[in-house]
Amino acid sequence: MIIETIRMRHSTRKFLSYDLSAEEKERLMNFFRELPTLHSLHLKWTLRDLNKGSGVIFAPCPEKPNCLVEYGFQGEIIVLEVTKMGLGSCWNAGIREEGSPAGIILGKEDSGKVTLNDVLTGMGRRKELKSLVEGPLPKDERLLQILESCRLAPSSMNMQPWRFNVQNGDLYIWTKGNVIGGGHWIDLGIVLSHAYITALEFFSKVSIEKAAGDKYRVIMS
Ligand SMILES: Cc1cc2nc3c(=O)[nH]c(=O)nc-3n(C[C@H](O)[C@H](O)[C@H](O)COP(=O)(O)O)c2cc1C
Repeated sequence: MIIETIRMRHSTRKFLSYDLSAEEKERLMNFFRELPTLHSLHLKWTLRDLNKGSGVIFAPCPEKPNCLVEYGFQGEIIVLEVTKMGLGSCWNAGIREEGSPAGIILGKEDSGKVTLNDVLTGMGRRKELKSLVEGPLPKDERLLQILESCRLAPSSMNMQPWRFNVQNGDLYIWTKGNVIGGGHWIDLGIVLSHAYITALEFFSKVSIEKAAGDKYRVIMS
C-alpha cells in the first residue's frame, strides 16, 4: 500500500557519503519517462551530482501556477519512488538549478541526526485532519484513507496550507495562498499527487480537473 511509503517518507537533511549505483540511476531515468501528468506538461527531469547527498533531481519550470502545481505533482511521485528505493530525500527551495523552482536532494540517510531545520519546521508534525476538512469528515473508509495520505504530504516550511472538502463523492483540494513566494503551488501539486496515487488503490478510474476558485476536483469511480 502506498500509504506505507507515505508514512515512511520524511525529509532527510543529513546524508552519508554515497554514490548512486548505475542501476539506481537507470531506475530513476526510466521512472522520469513514465511519470503521469496533471496539466499534460511533460517536465524534463534530470539527476545531477551535488555536494549534498548523492545528487539533486530537478526540471526547468517557469514560475507560473500551472507549472508549479505540475512540478509538485510529478516531483512528489519521484520522491515516493526514491523512498521505495530505500533512499532519503528532501525538497529544497534553495536549490534552483537551470530555472527549476526547487530541487529534490536524495541519498542515503545519516539517521538519528536532528538539524536546525528539523526543529524550525516542527519535526514534521502534522495538523489534525479535522482542522483541514471543511464540513464533516466522510464516512467512506476509502476517502478517509485518501485524506490521511494527503494530510501526511510534505510542504514548504511544513505550512500544510491545504484544505479539503468532500461533495457527492468527489474530493476538492485547494490551498490557502502563502505570503512568501509561490511555494503553496508546489505544495498543492504535492498533495494532489498523494490524493491521486492513494485513490488509484481504491478506485479503477481517477481523474483530476480544475474547479472554480483555484480548487482541484479529484473524481473517483
Ligand atoms: C516545496 C518545498 C520546499 C522545501 N524546501 C526546504 C528547504 O529549503 N530546506 C529544508 O530543510 N526543507 C525544505 N522542505 C522540507 C519541509 O520543511 C518538510 O517537508 C516539512 O517540514 C515536513 O517534514 P517532513 O518532510 O519530514 O514530513 C521543503 C518542502 C517543500 C514541499
